[in-house]
Amino acid sequence: MKKEIKIFSPATVANVSCGFDVLGFALDTIGDEMVVRKAPQKGIKITKIIGQDLPLEISKNVAGVAALTMLKETNLDFGFEIEINKQIKPGSGIGSSAASSAGAVWAINKLIGSPFNNLDLVRFAMEGEKLASGTAHADNVAPALFGGFTLIRSYNPLDIIKIPTPKNLMATVIHPQIEIKTSDARKLLRETVTLKNATKQWANVGGLISGLYANDYNLIGRSLKDYIAEPERSKLIPGFDNVKQACLNAGALGCGISGSGPSIFALCNGEKTAIKVSDAMENIYSKIGIAFDIHVSKINNKGIKILENR
Ligand code: HSE
Repeated sequence: MKKEIKIFSPATVANVSCGFDVLGFALDTIGDEMVVRKAPQKGIKITKIIGQDLPLEISKNVAGVAALTMLKETNLDFGFEIEINKQIKPGSGIGSSAASSAGAVWAINKLIGSPFNNLDLVRFAMEGEKLASGTAHADNVAPALFGGFTLIRSYNPLDIIKIPTPKNLMATVIHPQIEIKTSDARKLLRETVTLKNATKQWANVGGLISGLYANDYNLIGRSLKDYIAEPERSKLIPGFDNVKQACLNAGALGCGISGSGPSIFALCNGEKTAIKVSDAMENIYSKIGIAFDIHVSKINNKGIKILENR
């Protein structure tokens, strides 16, 4: 059995406009790298974090909390050390905490011969999300673990469905360098939704899922609408309306807030359009005066992957 594993754990776009807390997809070009190794001492130790100033203390670190939750369901007489190279900034809206939580439990599972299935791993990783945002949402950890698009049909009991991805679908994501805490962005949302908005929202979830299954890019685009979170949360993102309009003008199928923001995502048919959309985002944001990163990415259909097995 291997002693050490190095993995890539992808960034993810949660909600996908219409699917607040239930839809997400994984990206290919950005994610955290983690090394997880067996150690003689029982328990979990985070030995190194590169790239971000985050706590090494297990109870305060999402990877630590997720991994400990998992270990409680094992009977191992050894433990694990975790090193995290954080490429995804916390508070970016592209699943920073999810990448670390999901990566930790996925890697440990591999090192112990995969006794747990993906659904178990989602359950463990959700404890990391609970620490990060106050809510154990699964719409980032599920796509990180399953890859592709995922639908959380039910949280209790956990029921997760992997949705097929049309071949040419690409995502362009701009990450303005401001931090929005998911816990704060959740407080902005109303407790209740009007029947009129709920009707529109679930019609679009059905439309998006149908579009993904049928390779119907136009239907995917028509369904990328959010009547619940975007009207409240877009106020926190400088230039959101302009970016969205510019993306649509450049040929994006649709555009919305990635997770709880500030990142904004657009889905596109083909790389050429995805790059045009990236230029359109850049054009708007370079005038706003806030630093930003842009990622043009295929949909990552595999999720977390092994970089090295030692
Ligand atoms: N569904 C969560 C939210 C995702 O929108 O609060 C956070 O990344």
